[in-house]
Amino acid sequence: MEKRENIFLKKSFVAITGASRGLGRCITLQFAVKFPPNSVLVLMARNVEALESVRTELKATTPNITVLVRQYNQGETDEGYFNGIFDSLLTENKLSKGDFEQVMLVHNCATTGDIENAALQLCDVNRVRSYYDINLCGMILLNTNFFATFCDPSLSRAVVNITSLASQRPMPSLHLYCAGKAARDMFFRVLSAEEPSIRILTYAPGAVDTDMMRDMEANVSSASLRKALNGLREDGKLLTPEESVADLIQVLEDNTFDNAEYVNNYIKKS
Ligand SMILES: NC(=O)c1ccc[n+]([C@@H]2O[C@H](COP(=O)([O-])OP(=O)(O)OC[C@H]3O[C@@H](n4cnc5c(N)ncnc54)[C@H](OP(=O)(O)O)[C@@H]3O)[C@@H](O)[C@H]2O)c1
Repeated sequence: MEKRENIFLKKSFVAITGASRGLGRCITLQFAVKFPPNSVLVLMARNVEALESVRTELKATTPNITVLVRQYNQGETDEGYFNGIFDSLLTENKLSKGDFEQVMLVHNCATTGDIENAALQLCDVNRVRSYYDINLCGMILLNTNFFATFCDPSLSRAVVNITSLASQRPMPSLHLYCAGKAARDMFFRVLSAEEPSIRILTYAPGAVDTDMMRDMEANVSSASLRKALNGLREDGKLLTPEESVADLIQVLEDNTFDNAEYVNNYIKKS
């Protein structure tokens, strides 16, 4: 196997979606201490106040990192909405592509969709479509625009696709989520086949205590899944975002994963 170096060694431009809370916030805080000085982190989500508060935290802990906030809605369907996002960010902040040895896009943003209904109750086209606008279409368009900006194949380029066990295993109530995650994983396998020079980690973070998890515990229509999720909390089996992201960092430091193949977080609390 080709020996690759720890992914955090190069001066990097890193965009993280869903950075306002949960895993994305934690990825941002923990990645910031790993990358070399003068790397740039771009924090992306809808809630700009929450993003600004993450930026404030970073200013205190990692003053050598430049932190940019970019509000966006990944479910936006206006023609051209995603075009030039990263070109504008560079221009507005007087940065140039040549400033970086590596670029990375962390696709962390996701929603769970209509978990209160079973698969055979999905009848509202707008709800189904809007789910895939956020979780699939917007993600793909953002990805396309990122690599339109950073198109030089001699630059180190990486993607972290945050996936889920739900992409591998059918889970009642999580129809849209499971199908969306499976589609994203396959999208990145195809991208990897087309663009082997892009390093792609498809990473499932385990069951993590975030807003998404609390929402599922309370609201999934399937009683069996609700019981299983509540059992994880009662048995102390949920990971904290910090524990989960520490494992993600280890995977990226080791950098031995197969491109775009599913990697699971195997940390389990006893
Ligand atoms: N928690 C778990 O147990 C678990 C397990 C497996 C996989 N995952 C995956 O881990 C990732 C993070 O999950 P999480 O648990 O941290 O979720 P979360 O707490 O619900 O956070 C979701 C993030 O996505 C952003 N977001 C949602 N809709 C958006 C939109 N339309 N446009 C832009 N940003 C949007 C949210 O920010 P705003 O609201 O500010 O826009 C937020 O920052 C997801 O990909 C999830 O599927 C989580």
